[in-house]
Amino acid sequence: MKNDEYPPSEDTFFIVDNIKDEKGRFALDVGSGSGYLTKLLCNNFSFVVGTDINFDVLKNQTYKTENLVCCNASDALRTKFDFIVCNLPYLATEKICDAATDGGTEGFEVPKKILDSVIGSMADDGKFVFVTSTLSNYQRLVKYAQRLGLSTRIMAKKRLFYEELVLVETKLLS
Ligand SMILES: C[S@@+](CC[C@H](N)C(=O)[O-])C[C@H]1O[C@@H](n2cnc3c(N)ncnc32)[C@H](O)[C@@H]1O
Repeated sequence: MKNDEYPPSEDTFFIVDNIKDEKGRFALDVGSGSGYLTKLLCNNFSFVVGTDINFDVLKNQTYKTENLVCCNASDALRTKFDFIVCNLPYLATEKICDAATDGGTEGFEVPKKILDSVIGSMADDGKFVFVTSTLSNYQRLVKYAQRLGLSTRIMAKKRLFYEELVLVETKLLS
C-alpha cells in the first residue's frame, strides 16, 4: 500500500472555491491528508476535526491543525457536525493500492464506506459535501446517498483535461 501524503491538487482547490464561505460551529474534514482543507475550515468554524485512515500522513501533516483522529471516516467520533467535507478517493480501481486516490470497484467501494460512516455524524440540519469524478460511477454513489435518506444536489462541476470533477452536497431529509 502506498502511504504518501496527497498534496493539495485541482480537486482540493475546486472544493476550496466552493466551500470557503461556509460558517458554523462544528466542522469535519474526512481524509484530511495534507490538512489543507482542515486548516481552511478553522477560519470559519469554532471546532474543527480532521480524520484520516493513514496514521503516517496525520503525524507528518504539512498544514498542521489540532484535532486529528486516525480512523475510517468518522467511525471514532461522537460529535454531530454542522459541516462535513471529503475529497474522496474516487478512482475506479480493481484493488486499493493507494488510499489517497483508489476508490475500488467503480470508484464506489471506499466512498460508500465513508458515506455509511459520515451519515451518523451529521447534525440534523448539517450537510456533507464531497468531491467525486466522472472517472468513477458517481451516479451510483449519488443514488446510494438518496437510498440512505439524504437529499442530494450537484453544487458544481469542473472540466479537467481527462475528467470532470463533481461536487455533491447532501443533507438529511427531515
Ligand atoms: C484525495 S486525498 C484528499 C486529501 C486532502 N483532503 C485534500 O483535499 O487535498 C484522500 C485522503 O483520504 C484518506 N482516506 C482514504 N480512505 C479513507 C477512509 N476510509 N477514512 C478516512 N480517510 C481516508 C487518504 O489517506 C487521503 O489522505
